[in-house]
Amino acid sequence: MKILIFGKRGQVGWELQRSLAPLGQIVALDHEGDGQLCGDFSDLAGLAATVRAVAPDVIVNAAAHTAVDRAESEPELATTLNALAPGVLAAEAARLGAWLVHYSTDYVFDGSGDRPWHEDDATAPLSVYGRSKLAGEHAVAGCERHLIFRTSWVYAARGNNFARTMLRLASEREQLKVIADQIGAPTSAELLADVTAHAIRRVRRQAGLAGLYHLVAAGETSWHGYARHVIDFARQTGQPIRVAAAAIEAVPSSAYPLPAPRPHNSRLDTRKLQAAFDLRLPEWQVGVDRMLTEVLDD
Ligand SMILES: NC(=O)c1ccc[n+]([C@@H]2O[C@H](COP(=O)([O-])OP(=O)(O)OC[C@H]3O[C@@H](n4cnc5c(N)ncnc54)[C@H](OP(=O)(O)O)[C@@H]3O)[C@@H](O)[C@H]2O)c1
Repeated sequence: MKILIFGKRGQVGWELQRSLAPLGQIVALDHEGDGQLCGDFSDLAGLAATVRAVAPDVIVNAAAHTAVDRAESEPELATTLNALAPGVLAAEAARLGAWLVHYSTDYVFDGSGDRPWHEDDATAPLSVYGRSKLAGEHAVAGCERHLIFRTSWVYAARGNNFARTMLRLASEREQLKVIADQIGAPTSAELLADVTAHAIRRVRRQAGLAGLYHLVAAGETSWHGYARHVIDFARQTGQPIRVAAAAIEAVPSSAYPLPAPRPHNSRLDTRKLQAAFDLRLPEWQVGVDRMLTEVLDD
């Protein structure tokens, strides 16, 4: 099996190179390409030429315009990277009879209520990023052999992430204010990559499993709960933490106004995925503790 991965330097793209390696031959590209193959999602013709040249059995798209606030001021670029480019991949995958795997987000919903969103709930994105990702979903679904995984609150040990920021602030400050009215499940890039590998194996034998699935770790928390978990973990493992547990204040989203509104309810119902692929998704703390162990060992 030949697998073409886009976005190889991103959180998910990096982990995919590990998890998909046992499945076959990997061609992985970042936006700079490899000198011969174009990996730049703003070059739609170049992207189509890349797929034709590689002729993969599976395309996995981990590239995206993920700067949610910046997208508000560059909607055309966000649309190109998150919708038009995936549309090109879908057309080329359909032409080849290849599978296309793509990632989307809970930002396609308006974040109302407190019930976990189902795959077929009505979408109503609040931001440019959310609208561009929703358009990307529609484009990818144009290829019959597709898998779309909607996820949320993605982190990885590599690079910057919320947990690292909290660890730094907790070692510098005596008081912290963290948003408590957005609820979701921190989900590791490792988990997304591992489930992707499992799902690719299954759909190659069972094409009827094509479709849209919600994929997040089990359980739920707020950013405030996430921050407290991270800081407690660090304190228990002897890290120099300055902030006292009682001095981590829960605040509403309105305390940190940002260009792009965030959904308050990022809960995603994953029962469809677990039943279709015979999986059990671990509690969010499992991946976060593993990432913290790695980060703190550094
Ligand atoms: N992060 C989250 O919390 C989150 C939540 C829900 C859904 N998702 C979705 O999950 C997927 C993976 O996200 P992630 O967290 O791994 O993202 P990420 O770490 O920000 O990586 C995104 C990748 O997109 C690439 N990219 C940016 N501009 C590009 C361009 N013009 N051409 C080609 N590639 C370009 C970047 O590549 P270069 O390094 O080469 O620039 C980067 O490696 C995305 O579809 C995202 O929408 C993420």
